[in-house]
Amino acid sequence: MPEDGFLVIAHRGASAYEPENTLPSFELAEELDADYIELDVHLTKDGELVVMHDDEVDRTTESIGKIKDHTLAELKELTADEDKDEKVAVSGRNEEAYEIPTLVEVIEEMKGDIRFVIELKDTEQYFGIEEKLVDVMSEYGLIGTDSKGYPKAVVHSFDEEALKKVHKIDPSIPLLQLISFDDGEEAELSKKKLKDLLSYASGIGVSYEALTPPFVNTMHGEGLAVYAYTVNDAEAALRLKAMGVNGIHTNEPDLLDE
Ligand code: G3P
Ligand code: CA
Repeated sequence: MPEDGFLVIAHRGASAYEPENTLPSFELAEELDADYIELDVHLTKDGELVVMHDDEVDRTTESIGKIKDHTLAELKELTADEDKDEKVAVSGRNEEAYEIPTLVEVIEEMKGDIRFVIELKDTEQYFGIEEKLVDVMSEYGLIGTDSKGYPKAVVHSFDEEALKKVHKIDPSIPLLQLISFDDGEEAELSKKKLKDLLSYASGIGVSYEALTPPFVNTMHGEGLAVYAYTVNDAEAALRLKAMGVNGIHTNEPDLLDE
């Protein structure tokens, strides 16, 4: 990543304003000048990569059950909007825009307009998801940098084994290790953990309350970028920027506009 920037990564799209992980949410993030859109991927029963946060449809659709137990055709019957009527009324968009998108649909719709941070989740349920993801990234031209020198796509995950698999398949793909710290805990990493991270990751994504200036400096000294999630408070965002953090994940890509 360019060293001097402060990236705004739209978490599940502009998810404060549109239903998370839907095309309207990603389109709005682009309109609000986000640098990247963040999205989560899972595998359907018939092996398609779809974009949704949870591994089950219960919270964000009118149905229930695991993604892995639904075919893509079954998922396409659902509406990916927990507050459908309210949001559709506000945005005036067609309800069809709120279907569960495949990763390929999001890439085809958004590519060239914005960059991607793709999260691998629940990989123990999805045999071969790492290979499938790299195949799609390769086929749709997401590997490598754009004209501004930014990676067109980055993969992140809390699951270090999944990231290591991606690294093994294609070591040129930038990887961010997500790390969660408990409330009140300050971020720190053992020397052993740091050494391990440096063998596959370009940076880390950290729960922002845990970040401190010495920790950020230490990570930068090791050559690791530091991203903070999920920051929906402008004062906190400015504090993190002053700390030298490389960017934030936010539901509100316009958080720092004023
Ligand atoms: O932005 C980091 C974040 O994506 C990880 O948490 O639960 O929102 O996927 P989650
Ligand atoms: Ca995520």
